[in-house]
Amino acid sequence: MTKKIFTEIDTPALLIEKSVMENNISRMQKIANDNNVNLRPHTKTHKSPDLARKQLRAGAVGVAVAKLGEAEVMAAHGFDDIQIANIIVGDIKIRRLLDLHRKVKRITCTVDSIVAAKAIAEAFKQNQRIMEVFIEINTGHNRSGLNELGKIKELAEFILNTDYLKFAGLFSHPGHAYNTNTIGQVKTIAKQEADQLFTIHDELGEESIVADEISVGSTPTARFSAKILGINEIRPGNYIFYDVIQVSLGSCTFDDCALNVLTTVISTPSQGIAIIDAGAKALSLDRVMDGHKESIRHGYIKEKSAQITRISEEHGIIEYKDESFQIGERIRIIPNHACVVMNLFDYAYIVDKTISLLSESIRTDLEMAEANSKLNIWNATVLGDFNVNGLRQYAPLKLRNRGPDRMLFHMKY
Ligand SMILES: Cc1ncc(COP(=O)(O)O)c(C=O)c1O
Repeated sequence: MTKKIFTEIDTPALLIEKSVMENNISRMQKIANDNNVNLRPHTKTHKSPDLARKQLRAGAVGVAVAKLGEAEVMAAHGFDDIQIANIIVGDIKIRRLLDLHRKVKRITCTVDSIVAAKAIAEAFKQNQRIMEVFIEINTGHNRSGLNELGKIKELAEFILNTDYLKFAGLFSHPGHAYNTNTIGQVKTIAKQEADQLFTIHDELGEESIVADEISVGSTPTARFSAKILGINEIRPGNYIFYDVIQVSLGSCTFDDCALNVLTTVISTPSQGIAIIDAGAKALSLDRVMDGHKESIRHGYIKEKSAQITRISEEHGIIEYKDESFQIGERIRIIPNHACVVMNLFDYAYIVDKTISLLSESIRTDLEMAEANSKLNIWNATVLGDFNVNGLRQYAPLKLRNRGPDRMLFHMKY
């Protein structure tokens, strides 16, 4: 079944299992709804306005994005509540932020220094606009963010005393949850994150500084954070697809993984070895952390129990014992890290669980032409590094044949 239908798709290709993805969207939304917390999906995972729209339709309050380019694409597609979950530094970026601010109903970003906040405030003053910012807190991930109370207060006071900034609240990303070995440890990190944010919230309150929103987020911690009273917003991203890393953390099972890389066996050079046409440029170099299910190497092969033990750029080397692999055979691989793999492809095919063809939401040529013209405009004026249309030249022709639903992604932003 799989082999037959997939023959119309060249490999390596990205497949999104529609029903699995939709279950993931609704399950996370239910967690948010049941706990009266806002869900703001981090769309860096898929970078697709179409998929973000599905998340909003399910009940998400808005989107989070990782950078300005993603915000620009979401804004161009009509999203009106965008949180840039990152710090904006530099004149060019601040000009782009201002431009977005003119177009989008609500746009926020994070700050963790007076230097960065001041630069935004000055540019916004010149344009008589007010930018809403979160203070980013380091809750243990040790990336950006503040954790010294004195500095947090100082920054909050600076924001409050600046007419062109508005204090949105506290923001954190517990990325260190990815270094855990048990679900209990993940839960503890979610609790510690919340406790730290509540302490800061209360300390600021003593200075009459009100941090209205507390926005936290990661896929592993989301279901625990949602249950903690006082958290307003969860911001998971990966959950839409999940991946081997999430399985290893206990966030989901392999059956919940919606993203697959479809590959072809191109060689069986010796007994126990098969070579596929997907290497680092399709599967990424991301590995599952030590201490997790370390037997899974460069992704999880859905159809068999063999392992991809090595990869080079365009080749994957599979080692197997009790199975057989035939040249030309197609297999699907759940990637270790879905977000990075998504970013390696220009488009993906949406398939349903039985790999049947989908007619729903196939873009018409008209929509495609419109999208292309918009992308051309961005290419010329905003996103200098955009590739032509962000899509393959032949994509519209393929779609006219109503093959599997091919989602187009514009990954060069
Ligand atoms: C600031 C921020 N928020 C939220 C997320 C989403 O977390 P996850 O990838 O675990 O879904 C990320 C992920 O990198 C992030 O950096």
